Amino acid sequence: MTKTFSSEQIDEAAEALRNGQLVAFPTETVYGLGADATNPEAVANIFEAKGRPVGHPLIVHIANAEQLRLWVREVPESAEKLAEAFWPGPLTMVLSRNGRVAAEAVGSKPTIAIRVPDHPVALELLASFDGGVAAPSANKFGGVSPTTAAHVVDDLDDIVDVVIDGGKCGVGVESTIVDLTGDMPVVLRPGGVSAAAIESALGVSLADDVGEARAPGMLSSHYAPNASIELKTLEEVTAEDFTVEPGTGVIASVSVDVSPSWTLPVDATAYAKNLYAVLREADARGVKKLLIVPPSEGELLEAVLDRLAKAAAPRL
Ligand code: TXA
Ligand code: MG
Repeated sequence: MTKTFSSEQIDEAAEALRNGQLVAFPTETVYGLGADATNPEAVANIFEAKGRPVGHPLIVHIANAEQLRLWVREVPESAEKLAEAFWPGPLTMVLSRNGRVAAEAVGSKPTIAIRVPDHPVALELLASFDGGVAAPSANKFGGVSPTTAAHVVDDLDDIVDVVIDGGKCGVGVESTIVDLTGDMPVVLRPGGVSAAAIESALGVSLADDVGEARAPGMLSSHYAPNASIELKTLEEVTAEDFTVEPGTGVIASVSVDVSPSWTLPVDATAYAKNLYAVLREADARGVKKLLIVPPSEGELLEAVLDRLAKAAAPRL
């Protein structure tokens, strides 16, 4: 399904946000399930729709870096540098917040996670709405994030008021989350911008230890399809691994004579673009067990390995 969108439709979606409704929209990473970040009831509906535990804070999306100061106590120099280098783009910053955002959106924390997405439809929606949009990924809690409008409809058809179709997401995994509230900046979740790129933009090293308290709602099992997952590197797999029993499937960077199987590139950035769609397809095909060979190189390697590890972790 590829619907085109018009400015009129985007204005209607912005109006829906003003009326407290939920609007699913495309970003460059994954689709988001958005609500007015200052409206407590609308934000509460996001948690309800996703089945997400309250206390797992949401990311607030804004139209441009100038708006950052409207949501935070102060804009540190590090935030200015990162906004300059990566916004619009797949980088979320955690900063000390002011009173503008609904407490429900941030799990009553004193901080806010905020970003400017790099997608023309998201930016037009944010400009038309003229405010902040709190949005998690538009999937059921713990599941695989949506990278097409059809994925959103599969997961949330009955609860979402508007779905804007902006085609397939370009990055395919979520944003990098960097916490700037401590003595040293620290990456809470690897994503579309690498840690090395952040370090070089800041000119300082990142802390390599993420304190438990600074990463709320980051669970070991996440981004998981229904199928159980076994991970093996290209060096570890043997010919027997590829003679699989019925009900099992393979995702690998080599093409194998197994059905169903999916071939994804060795480069993590290219792998990321199709990973979530393939995990969803495996579920749709009724695959019970997936053998996955991860990518082995590329800028998004850390992010893809993180998502695969969480998808393969014992389920909650
Ligand atoms: O690419 C993305 O980031 C997508 C698109 C829609 O923007 N959004 C996304 O949202 O992945 P979600 O809700 O699935 O993940 C948001 C993560 C949560 O795991 C939460 O721990 C973290 O952001 N987070 C939000 N607010 C935070 C805060 N104040 N401090 C620390 N972490 C926070
Ligand atoms: Mg999510």
